[in-house]
Amino acid sequence: MSDILVIHGPNLNLLGSREPDLYGDTTLDSVDSGLKKLAKTKGFTLEAVQSNAEHVLIDHVQRAATERVRFIIINPAAFTHTSVALKDALKAVNIPFIEVHISNIFAREEYRRHSYFSADAVGVITGLGIYGYELALQATFRALENNKA
Ligand code: DQA
Repeated sequence: MSDILVIHGPNLNLLGSREPDLYGDTTLDSVDSGLKKLAKTKGFTLEAVQSNAEHVLIDHVQRAATERVRFIIINPAAFTHTSVALKDALKAVNIPFIEVHISNIFAREEYRRHSYFSADAVGVITGLGIYGYELALQATFRALENNKA
């Protein structure tokens, strides 16, 4: 069991080579190892998963509940704009989560401006590149530390 679960949606496995002008040139492995290290410095455990399949992401969310994950950071990628099923999974497990987007979804195509997740999220970070994950993790620390008190 990990305290924090980071979930990456479809095509984020290609981070580093996928549209670098939009998403940068850092790989997903490098993002995840940075987050794990940062979590460790604060005494938290962190697991990161990625899938291109909606049902696999839903299974990860459901598993988070049985494994007593305390906080989720999620970039649902294209499922942000399409997946009622993944949204419902997060509502079902009732684990607080932060939604992260590397690009600014509001500055792109019209169809990216709507997210099924934002209304249920603790907060949303969009457009700050991969730094958004680190910011989300800092906010997670604060939430978990406040919770401990
Ligand atoms: C994304 C934005 C989505 O619109 C897109 O489908 C992605 C990545 C982002 O991180 O900027 O795959 O979630």
